[in-house]
Amino acid sequence: MKLTLHVWRQNGPDAEGRLETYDAPDVSPDQSFLEMLDDVNEELVKEGKDPIAFDHDCREGICGMCSQVIDGVPHGGMERTTVCQLHMRVFNDGDEVFIEPWKSRAFPVIKDLVVDRGALDKIIQAGGYVSCHTGGVPDGNAHPIAKPSADYAMDAAECIGCGACVAACPNGSAVLFTGAKVSQLAVLPQGKIEAKRRVNLMTETSKELGFGNCTNHYECQASCPKGIDVKFIAKLNREYIKALF
Ligand code: SF4
Ligand code: FES
Repeated sequence: MKLTLHVWRQNGPDAEGRLETYDAPDVSPDQSFLEMLDDVNEELVKEGKDPIAFDHDCREGICGMCSQVIDGVPHGGMERTTVCQLHMRVFNDGDEVFIEPWKSRAFPVIKDLVVDRGALDKIIQAGGYVSCHTGGVPDGNAHPIAKPSADYAMDAAECIGCGACVAACPNGSAVLFTGAKVSQLAVLPQGKIEAKRRVNLMTETSKELGFGNCTNHYECQASCPKGIDVKFIAKLNREYIKALF
């Protein structure tokens, strides 16, 4: 396939960004989207030009590093698919493809398609953990946990912290991410002890960092590559109200 790419290029956080056009003349339908960009970058390097900066790591949908808005949709709009798992077979010969970084006040652009998602780490640092003495691995059955609670926690734990929910939300809200992290720990015996403190600190930190509020657009759930459900936002709200009392 031959594609025409319109890629966001920006030299730094304070530089002005612009869309630049590149040809991708020999794209295999079996390539991943990132492999296709690797080929474009190889050509740019051969020509002595600056390659397109983009985030990636595992390339198997588990680390949350890849972060591109493709044709206006975070991760490209394939259900439960990260950019690294998006394959070129979903495109057609002659397509024009627009590639942009996450756009959110809380995620400043570092370069081209790379944004600073440190704000999500700050929300986790505020309370998304369990305080305990590390040591030997505890016995598997030392804390009996009911199967429905374990399943619920596991569903929430699927969040990979990619930030697509923030990029998709018209308010730039991080409540799906925060809801997943709060819910995951709130239903487990180890996490219940600090549940009130956690939800207050994580919610306050999210506000301070410039993330918006939720007004039920559900764009977050639609763009989440891990299928995180908005029921975790409802759980976050319930935990927050409980903590107020
Ligand atoms: S909730 Fe989904 S979209 Fe948001 S950070 Fe987690 S995995 Fe990414
Ligand atoms: S590179 Fe790890 S999830 Fe895409």
